[in-house]
This record gives sequence, C-alpha cells and structure tokens, in this order.
Amino acid sequence: MEGVTDPLFREVMAERPGLGVVCTEFVRISRAPIRAVHLRAEVVKIPGVPLSVQIMGNDADCMADAAGIVSEAGADIVDINLGCPTRKASKNGVGAAMLKDPDLLYKVLSSMRARVPGCLSAKIRAGWDDATHILAIAQAIEAAGANFIVVHPRLRTDAFKGVADWRIVAALKSQISIPVIGNGDCWYAAPALHLQKAMQCDGIMIGRPALRNPWIFQQMAQIRSAETPVHPDGAMVAAFLHDLMGRFCAALHVPTAPIGRMKEIIGWVGRAIDDDRLFLRQALRAKSIQEIQVIIDTMIAPLPAHAIDMHSEGLLQLEKCPENSDKNTEFSAVSRHPCAVSSHVHKSHVTRTDF
Ligand SMILES: Cc1cc2nc3c(=O)[nH]c(=O)nc-3n(C[C@H](O)[C@H](O)[C@H](O)COP(=O)(O)O)c2cc1C
Repeated sequence: MEGVTDPLFREVMAERPGLGVVCTEFVRISRAPIRAVHLRAEVVKIPGVPLSVQIMGNDADCMADAAGIVSEAGADIVDINLGCPTRKASKNGVGAAMLKDPDLLYKVLSSMRARVPGCLSAKIRAGWDDATHILAIAQAIEAAGANFIVVHPRLRTDAFKGVADWRIVAALKSQISIPVIGNGDCWYAAPALHLQKAMQCDGIMIGRPALRNPWIFQQMAQIRSAETPVHPDGAMVAAFLHDLMGRFCAALHVPTAPIGRMKEIIGWVGRAIDDDRLFLRQALRAKSIQEIQVIIDTMIAPLPAHAIDMHSEGLLQLEKCPENSDKNTEFSAVSRHPCAVSSHVHKSHVTRTDF
C-alpha cells in the first residue's frame, strides 16, 4: 500500500501471527532507464514471510526488465498493479487504466513472464467504468502465464465508494483455472472467512482492515484452528501504537516524519474506537509525538475490549462489510448456480451504496 507498507511497517506486521505474505507499495516503472539499485532496494525480505513486490507500468520491455531485476533480487512474487485508480496513473495509462486494453496487458504480462522464473501475479479491479470485460481481462492474465490473480471487485470509477462486489470474485473463480484471491472490505475476521468460503476463492488479501485492526490475521488463523480469537482491549491497542511509534522515531530522521506516519495509522485504528471519533480528532490535531503519546495513554489504554470494534465477528459493526451489503446478500441466494453468478457480472449489478 502506497505510503504505508514500507519495509519497517511490513516488519511490524510480519512479526504478528497469522500473516501469509507481505506486499510492497507499488514501484512505478516508466520508460526512463531503469535504476536497478533503486529497484533492488525494494526487495527487503523478512525471514519466514514471503514477499510480493509490486510494479506498475505499461511498457512491455521496461516491465520485463524490472520484473527480472526484482525476481533475481529475491522477490517471492512479482506482481503487476492493474488497479491503481489515481488520476496520475490514469493519465499515464497505467494501473487500472490498463484494464481498458486486455491486449496491452497480455503483452506486458507475457514479457514479464519470460523474465520471472518464480511466481507472477496481477492485481486488478473489476474494470474501468463497468465490469463487463472482467472475464476477458482475467483470461488475458491467465493466458499470459500469471500464477494467480488478485481481484478488488470495485470499478476504477468507484475509487473506494460503496462496498466491494464479491460476486465478481466468485464469478472469476468459477471461470478461470488459476487461483483467485479476493480483496476488499474484509473488516472483520470471521465474516472474511465466511466470504472466502461462500465465494470459494483461494485466499484473501487484506489492506485497510489490517491497519484498522492489526490483530485481524491472528484472529483469522485462530478461527481456522478452532481457537478463541483474541479481542484486543485498550491496553493492547495502546501498546501496539507505542511500539510502532518507537520504531518510527528510531528509523525516521526527519523530525516530523514519525508524526505523519503515526497519524496515518491512527487514522485507521481510530475508526475502530467506538467514541464518535473523539480519539481520532484529538490525535490528528496533535503537534508532537509526546502529545500523541499522552492522548493514547488517556483515551485508548483504559478502554475495555467491548469499546473497540476489533472483535473477530464485528459485534459493533462500525464498518460496512460485503456480507451485509445488498448485492452480496443477493449473491448468497444465487451462489449455488455458477451460471447465474456469471450472468450477474454486468454493469447494472455493480451497484453502489455510498458510505
Ligand atoms: C493508502 C492506500 C494505498 C494503497 N496502495 C496500493 C498499492 O500500492 N498497490 C495496490 O495494489 N493497491 C493499493 N491500495 C489498494 C489496496 O491494496 C486494496 O486493494 C484496497 O484498499 C481494497 O482492499 P481493503 O478493503 O482490504 O483495503 C492502496 C489502498 C490504500 C487505502
């Protein structure tokens, strides 16, 4: 995740139980000569946790060179970003903009395939402004030789509006042969596992929900092994934030940098505190690390677990989940009929329910 999953943050998350793979932020590959040193520097591995290195670009030769470099440098997975929705990416014809051109993405991925002996993947959205071409896109990715595909089932034009349409994940799973990983709005551990089962996908990628609840991977692992999932209380959340703050302060030498990084994470963790966003507002106004520390100690540390929306079942439901969205509820009624599912993947069914 851009601006978040740098090596330091990946290390913090990888130390926590339950995580299967960590992913870098995207690295933009332009037509300018590739700086191999810069690219190799992205491949910072954590012992025991596979690393996926994501690159973004649309020039087949440059992407092949970049893929070869990160693969040789030890990336366990080389991933192409076909989902970035930003205006800048779209203007440059990269990220989600490539979903408009399955021939181009086939060409780029095929050239990457030739240079990556290991695992190659593609991360896509449901489409540019409608989902009608999703199957053609996925088939192009499969034909180019990717080992798996990650689908965030929102359109580029949705940005982060509404709720991810996981029926699209199920439809792809039933129609292509390579593994399909679903991604989007898995805010709580138990519903995420239900969703994976209902959509029959091969895995789940979790982004923002892990920033909001850093215990989510552990909870999923505990549920899978029939243990009682941890439900963090205020003291645990405060300890996590203090640990992170200590690491940011030790590693980042620009004085304001740790404050910015902490506020980014607090922006997510604060969403899980059932206090009408009081903590969030106060912490985001803080001017120093010391001030943030005091706010955490007074407003978070004393909280009981039930005031924190990190229960594995999502008891407080402060976030909207795919399981509870109309379109995905509708899916569960048709999920026994794969043909009916695929017929649902068209624009009129990619409905929106804004937050
Ligand atoms: C701050 C931020 C940065 C992101 N950076 C990337 C990125 O570099 N590459 C990528 O494929 N997706 C990126 N995403 C999208 C997420 O990987 C993910 O697809 C999206 O947030 C939906 O999943 P979630 O609900 O689990 O967060 C980013 C999202 C956010 C909020």
